[in-house]
Amino acid sequence: MLVDKYAVIGNPIAHSKSPLIHAEFAHQTGQTMSYEAILAPIDGFDATVNALMAKGYKGLNVTVPFKFDALRFASGRGKVNVFAATAGASNTLIFDGVNGVVADNTDGVGLVNDITKNLKFDLRNKKVLVLGSGGATFGVLQPLAEANPALVVIANRTFTKAEEAARRLIEIVQASRSNVLSMAKRFEELDGMQFDLIINSTSAGLTDSVLPIPDSIFAQGCLAYDMMYGRETPFMAQARRNGAQVADGLGMLVEQAAEAFYLWRGVRPDTQPVMEKLRSLAK
Ligand code: ATR
Repeated sequence: MLVDKYAVIGNPIAHSKSPLIHAEFAHQTGQTMSYEAILAPIDGFDATVNALMAKGYKGLNVTVPFKFDALRFASGRGKVNVFAATAGASNTLIFDGVNGVVADNTDGVGLVNDITKNLKFDLRNKKVLVLGSGGATFGVLQPLAEANPALVVIANRTFTKAEEAARRLIEIVQASRSNVLSMAKRFEELDGMQFDLIINSTSAGLTDSVLPIPDSIFAQGCLAYDMMYGRETPFMAQARRNGAQVADGLGMLVEQAAEAFYLWRGVRPDTQPVMEKLRSLAK
């Protein structure tokens, strides 16, 4: 039987959970496909992808540090879908006989689906704070804006990057004619403000660094979402101390994978059992 081949490509890649997630999705939906983790040399993204395409691979997930390379790769060879264009990066490539290489980005849809469907948090008219202005922030701006919060404040240690992210969000909002208000703030300017949802997209948790954010920003019923998973970050601990509901990024990981799976296979897997399995394996 012919098996459609997919993979995740990154550096490092050994600890990726994507092969397990996609194997579960394929099993659950009865899709005949393979999915493996592939390590590409730091300067060898194009060569690795070209070789995989020559072998007949149908699509790739792309992770650190290649998400920008993936967008560039598709720009010259096919099509860049809107979420990848506004993110300035791609985590999903589709190799398709008609369009060539198509770049998409499912990170933002993954985040929003986790927040709205799994955590049952209605984003409409809410006040949202995004901490950080790196690739992870840019990756989620458009789907976040499309969920119609009232306000998105972006705060970052390096203020110019927060301004850049807020400007990108304003462009997205103008193009979509929604009326989300967007602004950039310094961490110390957050004093006196309160938010219904606070998303930590910084990598500060990796080094257990405490973000200089005031305790007062967590509104009653606030959801504090850390894109990181597998560890309790100082942000999560602070949010818990201040009475917020806390979520890690495992749901986003599974939901972004589900969206990629849907782009490739046209079938939507059930994410719940996969999330439960990952959580039980982590115990
Ligand atoms: P990613 O692609 O994961 O977003 P990145 O582009 O390197 O990674 O961005 C990392 C983000 O985490 C940035 O917003 C960074 O802030 P700066 O722009 O000021 O560098 C933020 N970050 C990392 N460590 C941090 C720390 N200890 N305190 C505050 N912010 C931190």
